[in-house]
Amino acid sequence: MESRTDSAIDSALSYGRIDVGVLVIGAGAAGARTAIELVDNGVSVDDVLVLGKRNHGDAHTTWARGGINGALGTHDAEDSWAIHAADTLNEGHHINDPAKVETVARQLPDRLRELDEWGMAFSRTEDGEIDQRYFGAQSFRRTAFAGDHTGESLLDTLVDQAQQRSIPYRENVMVTKLLSDGDQVYGAVGFDMADGEFLLFNAGTVVLAAGGYASLYNRHTSRDDENNGDGPALAYDAGASLMDMEFVQFHPTGMAVDETDPDWEPWDGRLVTEAVRGEGGRLYNADGERFMKRYSPDQMELDARDVVARAIAQEIAEGRGTENGGVFLDISHRDRQFIQTRLPRMYERFAGLGVDMAEEPVEVAPAAHYGMGGVVVDDNGETEIDGLFAIGETMAGVHGANRLGGNSLAETVAFGTVTGRRIASEGAEPGALPDSIVGGIAEPHMAHLDALADSPGKYDVDTVFTELQELLWEHAGILRGGDRLSAGLDELTRLQTKASDLEVGPITSESFEFAMDLGFMLLTAEAVLRGALERAESRGAHYRTDHPDERDGWRRNITAKRADLGGMALATEPVGSPSEGVQAALEEGHKLEYHQLE
Ligand code: FUM
Repeated sequence: MESRTDSAIDSALSYGRIDVGVLVIGAGAAGARTAIELVDNGVSVDDVLVLGKRNHGDAHTTWARGGINGALGTHDAEDSWAIHAADTLNEGHHINDPAKVETVARQLPDRLRELDEWGMAFSRTEDGEIDQRYFGAQSFRRTAFAGDHTGESLLDTLVDQAQQRSIPYRENVMVTKLLSDGDQVYGAVGFDMADGEFLLFNAGTVVLAAGGYASLYNRHTSRDDENNGDGPALAYDAGASLMDMEFVQFHPTGMAVDETDPDWEPWDGRLVTEAVRGEGGRLYNADGERFMKRYSPDQMELDARDVVARAIAQEIAEGRGTENGGVFLDISHRDRQFIQTRLPRMYERFAGLGVDMAEEPVEVAPAAHYGMGGVVVDDNGETEIDGLFAIGETMAGVHGANRLGGNSLAETVAFGTVTGRRIASEGAEPGALPDSIVGGIAEPHMAHLDALADSPGKYDVDTVFTELQELLWEHAGILRGGDRLSAGLDELTRLQTKASDLEVGPITSESFEFAMDLGFMLLTAEAVLRGALERAESRGAHYRTDHPDERDGWRRNITAKRADLGGMALATEPVGSPSEGVQAALEEGHKLEYHQLE
């Protein structure tokens, strides 16, 4: 039962204490779907609390656009969950966890039908079926969609379902530490970003659904204040392991803009959905050449994201880019009505900036989009810390070295369901929070945050934040080399020193929030750089200029864990094997027939 009391560390520092069975940190699709499953499997709503940094329904999920994968076979009856799994493993370069891939692919047809029953605004065929479009590197039309606002429609549906069940939600809460003794989780500490109150959550089960780490990079498709690595960093600090952090997906088509134009500048890097290419969009360099013919004559613009992103980067690097540092993406050969129906948000966005997609191309260049790595979890989403779960972009394992577009939303609802069921089957009681954890971890942490507020430190938070993002782009970007990665780690040490002397405003200020984010980012950045340096090969989104080939011996996952004596300890683990059904689908050798589209 959720209950609340007020406590005080001393006369100057008080905090609210909330006792609850299951604390869900993150209110995007993964968090919302978990909470729904908990309640549908008998957990009382009084035993669940969902925390979000923003208002209800305003999570980063809303920025996911082009679709959600599931082998419904609306157009291609021969598609199956096993082929979906095979495509996911192929594009993950066989470093994904086959069991987790299978969970997602098996679940999705049912999850899509369930979302349909719950009223999600899917785009439909003339026969009223859930429509499905091509997305990169998938053998069949498997990506279900709601125009090009699929994430928004998905989250609206889940929030509506959560509200129908009266699932409690608290907005404006930033969680800054998990309470753990290294074996078991006891809850979390954070603060209310609106009024500055410190909060201690006593929870026997904690679900981290707090997103990924793509905002480590200065050109990214995420919201600036989301995907700063909170989820992985909180879990790591609690004693869990991270995995595959070196695999960062660069989406081929972020907006490329004139940064000196104030109307365009805020749009730099914003996602131009893969659906534009899925609906027939073509890429041209500044010489008017449809350059994907040279890089991928069979799959063209719909090859895997890493291939298309590297091709665009190469065109730009070799001087065939546009003035704004991009290439052209053109769908003007489709008629206006088609574009307005299938890509309404893209059409409106560019129209608002004075570009008519039905008449002219738009400019695009790669931008960091998704962290394939994350927290190590078992088949139910549980970490090695008892009671601590991690799902959605916070967890590792599903996407391997390169994620298929449309598989991130799929993962949120698949693992939300699996994890919710698992927790419900074990019961959800508030934890017996030991005094030693309150006095030894929670209260000192709050005192530390209190001391940080209103600090007159030497360095500006925004400046260090930007320096870190530039460092990642420069040293661990689309192309990485051993020397640059090593230099990046040295630079990181310099930024860590600066971050210990920041000028920070009051606890409710943006600079305080960004100082917290910076802490999470420094930690995740270290895991990315160390993992990328360790992996002496190229695989999927991780391209090492000094080791350009994929190597069989590297078909292993790299994990990172806090070492007992301090520092980050890396290890490698072998990858599992696919089930018979998925192995058979792999051997059948399905592949996207791009030219069917033309
Ligand atoms: O391009 C897109 O619409 C992105 C989809 C995804 O990353 O899954």
